[in-house]
Amino acid sequence: MSKRLYVETVGCQMNVLDSELVTAGLLQAGFELVDSPSTADTILFNTCSVREHAEDKVYSALGRLKRVKDRHPQKIIGVIGCMAQKDGRRIFRRAPHVDLVVGPGQLGRIPELIRRVADGEGPQMEVSLSRDSAEPRKVRASFQQYDPGRDVSVRPGPHQAMVRIMFGCNNFCAYCIVPKVRGPEQSRPADEIVDEVRRLVDQGCLEVTLLGQTVNGYRDQGAEPPVRLADLLARLDRIEGLRRLKFVTNHPRHMTTELIEAVRDLPSVSPYLHIPAQSGSNPILKRMHRGYTVESYREMLSQIRDTIPGVAITSDFIVGFPGETEEDYRRTADLVRDARFKNSFIFKYSPRPGTKAAEQFEDDVSDEVKRRRNNDLLAIQNAISLEDNRPLVGREVEVLVEGPSKHSRKRDASGQSIQLAGRTVDDRIVVFDGPRDLVGRILPIRIEKADSFTLFGSTTEPPGALPE
Ligand code: SAH
Ligand code: SF4
Ligand code: F3S
Repeated sequence: MSKRLYVETVGCQMNVLDSELVTAGLLQAGFELVDSPSTADTILFNTCSVREHAEDKVYSALGRLKRVKDRHPQKIIGVIGCMAQKDGRRIFRRAPHVDLVVGPGQLGRIPELIRRVADGEGPQMEVSLSRDSAEPRKVRASFQQYDPGRDVSVRPGPHQAMVRIMFGCNNFCAYCIVPKVRGPEQSRPADEIVDEVRRLVDQGCLEVTLLGQTVNGYRDQGAEPPVRLADLLARLDRIEGLRRLKFVTNHPRHMTTELIEAVRDLPSVSPYLHIPAQSGSNPILKRMHRGYTVESYREMLSQIRDTIPGVAITSDFIVGFPGETEEDYRRTADLVRDARFKNSFIFKYSPRPGTKAAEQFEDDVSDEVKRRRNNDLLAIQNAISLEDNRPLVGREVEVLVEGPSKHSRKRDASGQSIQLAGRTVDDRIVVFDGPRDLVGRILPIRIEKADSFTLFGSTTEPPGALPE
């Protein structure tokens, strides 16, 4: 069997990390990575179920592969991740040319299952137990940790890495499919996380982003006393060479004073917090099962802003949740205006079968109204993002250079400078020109222009004088 692998990933950072781990595991099993499905023997889609649109995209991509599979029946097509867990065998029915279905809690089985398909054993499926099908201990055990060892070559860049500190979610927000597809909440032991981060820093990593669906609810019960996120950050902060430490996603309910002060006090922890509000209206928050009121959310924001000078806060919002009136929407818009988020991700409500909201409430806000609220909220947020970025023009910021800018039209065939992109410590994107070997450096950049999403600038030091 020839082993050319192509992996396509949609969804959140959890999926980006899972794809990295699956790829690392398959490289260890003798695969090589190619950059197009047409030259691959094994094509994996790492999928997301959070909105219907994310699933539709995968099913239409699978549809397009039907003809390819007819012509090359030996090609192996796999669907992995959240949609694999949610739809299971239905994927084989909808796309009979799929060979492999593997949920996010069974990723470690992928090399063996691909081998079985290649050996002619037919379609293979491995998913975790659904939450109500067995006793909690067994369900938890069926969502297995997969740790094939990190491989620098398959990370987006050698200087940055994501580290999962929690699996699953127990919050059951009424609209959300994640607790179903990612299983029960489980925190990884702190010692294990500290070891992993130390290894990454030894490999040259400067920035680590800790991942969890409610990352600030982290609690290592195995330790005495239990280790909370603030304690874990303090331990990671002591690792020499780690320059930046971030964590996503925070739940407003778990934003403790201790954690806010840790962000202020620990030098490596970035003054950047993603704390989705989802709505600015209490009746909607209540029906969403979010467990806080807009007043308590606003109070939390003031506490954070009073404690951490210059902090950047970002949020997510869902518009058009069942029963959302113009008045509810106006309250959300008021919150966005007052909170002055650095940016917000705004989504139109998408009913997910199997969630409380889909079962209990009619999806009664029309798509037209959802679209209007989405655009309106986006316009409010973008104006704020621009106002927030503008004062940086003329100032110098410290940027970790991540790589060539995605929108770069300049080429560096002649070794000339190209357009590079990096981030400030508070997660703002900065684009500037420079030689490629600046990637992985932390540099001062003078900002010359700003739009809502990006800062544009140039290096302030002549080549040769750039800091190591
Ligand atoms: N654990 C994180 C992120 C979960 S998914 C959190 O608690 O915030 C990322 C975002 O997708 C959510 O914050 C929410 O805004 C959005 N989302 C989740 N389910 C959705 C649905 N059914 N329809 C529209 N947006 C949804
Ligand atoms: Fe979904 Fe809520 Fe869990 Fe986030 S906290 S993953 S929105 S159920
Ligand atoms: Fe999507 Fe799964 Fe993430 S449903 S948002 S990829 S946890």
